[in-house]
Order: sequence, then C-alpha cells, then structure tokens
Amino acid sequence: MSSEATTGATRSLRIALSKGRIFNETMPLFEAAGISPAEDPEKSRKLIIPSTEPDVEFLIVRASDVPTYVQHGGADLGVVGKDVLLEHGGDGVLEPIDLKIAQCKLMVAGFPGTDLNSNKRFRVATKFTECARRHFAQQGRQVEIIKLYGSMELAPLVGLSELIVDVVDTGSTLAANGLVPLEHISDITSRLIVNRASMKIRHTRISEILARIAKAVD
Ligand code: ATP
Ligand code: PRP
Repeated sequence: MSSEATTGATRSLRIALSKGRIFNETMPLFEAAGISPAEDPEKSRKLIIPSTEPDVEFLIVRASDVPTYVQHGGADLGVVGKDVLLEHGGDGVLEPIDLKIAQCKLMVAGFPGTDLNSNKRFRVATKFTECARRHFAQQGRQVEIIKLYGSMELAPLVGLSELIVDVVDTGSTLAANGLVPLEHISDITSRLIVNRASMKIRHTRISEILARIAKAVD
C-alpha cells in the first residue's frame, strides 16, 4: 500500500477558488493542464463542482476566504490574488506558482495634490486593513484605518476618508471618481497556494498537478 493511501489521502483533491474574475482567468490554465470543471459555477448553485479528473473537485468560495480554506485544510489547493494573500498573512500555506493572471497593483489613492508627507493624520478607507497598517507603519506615518468591504473609491467623495488602499488596474475607477493613484504598495497577480500538510501527505499527486499547471502558465 502506498504511503499516500495509508495516510487516508484517498478523498478528492479540493481546489478552492472564487467565481468571476479568478474563475474566468484560471480556467484556461486548468483546461490546458487537463482539469476542467464539469459544470459552470455561474449557472449552478452547487459549491462543490466535480472536474474531468475523477479525484479533483473545485470548491466555490469568496475570494477573501480562499486562504482560510487552504490554511485549515478545507481545501488542498487554492487560487487567490496576492492582495488577499498579503492581507491574510499566508500562515500554513505554500505559494508554489505565480499564475500571472488578474494583474493589478495595490495602491494608496486619493484626491490629486494630496501631500502624503504632511503631518496630517490621514483616514484610510480599505478592505486591506493589514496591508494598509503595515504600509503606513513602514513609512512611519500615523493613520486611522477605516474597514470597508467594497466601493472604496466612494469614501473620499463623501468625507469618510482622505485616502483609500485598493487594487488598481486600468485606473478608470479612480479617474471616474476624481481620484488618482498616490503611492504603490505591491504588484499583484493570482497565486496557486497549497496546504502545507496536503503537500506532504499527497506529495506525488499534488506535484504532478502543479507541474501541469506550471507548464500551462509558461
Ligand atoms: P470578494 O468577493 O471577497 O470581495 P473580490 O470582489 O475582490 O472579492 P474579484 O473582484 O473577483 O473579488 O477579484 C479577485 C482578485 O482579482 C483580487 O483579489 C485581485 O487580486 C484581482 N483583481 C481585482 N480587481 C482587479 C482588476 N480591476 N483588474 C485585475 N485584477 C483585479
Ligand atoms: C476592483 C477594484 C477597483 C477596480 C480597479 O473592483 O476594487 O474598484 O477593480 O480596476 P480599474 O483600475 O481597472 O478601474 P471590482 O472587482 O469591482 O472591479 P470590476 O469592475 O473590474 O469587477
């Protein structure tokens, strides 16, 4: 009996990912690697979707929950934006492949002409509270962080904050709301992440899948 079988590693491998942008941009890579979903999650209410590989299934979760599922072993693998991973902290997960999809930048933004070096104690609205806290602490700047769950660009327009921290791609959402990027925090792409224990227990199968996906990325 193989070591993988003796450790009870016979259930399906679970890959957590979110609907929308991540799913749409990840699928061509997985399909090139020979792993396709049996159903379209946009059309199904199912949260566990089988794949063309009998021992692999997709879990449909919120983007910000992917690292939590993988950290605690609810999923063996996951696809997640580096922004979400930075915010989570990455405990208990390996990050073996940069999928180079969903490219954007994590930025500080605000009204044109905002002087970040003034002594003012800025209010910063963001869903990336940990990233924002770390960034401003590294700069030695005192800020007040205001937690939001979306539509961050609205906050300066209604006086909730002077600054936001959010992902920026084309810049059109900022521009449409009279805001500009002020400071770069990090370049962002989506990453394939793996639960540390799964990687040990199911090393042969996971390594084989990683190799196929890495080849698809290249
Ligand atoms: P949640 O549902 O948990 O709030 P979300 O709405 O941020 O998550 P998506 O909009 O699908 O989820 O974004 C998923 C990932 O795609 C983000 O974590 C980020 O890495 C990347 N991303 C977000 N916005 C853009 C964008 N405009 N262009 C390119 N990539 C983006
Ligand atoms: C993200 C993000 C910004 C926007 C940035 O939101 O929160 O609002 O994209 O992209 P841009 O610089 O190209 O305007 P969301 O996921 O809602 O954006 P979407 O409209 O691209 O889905």
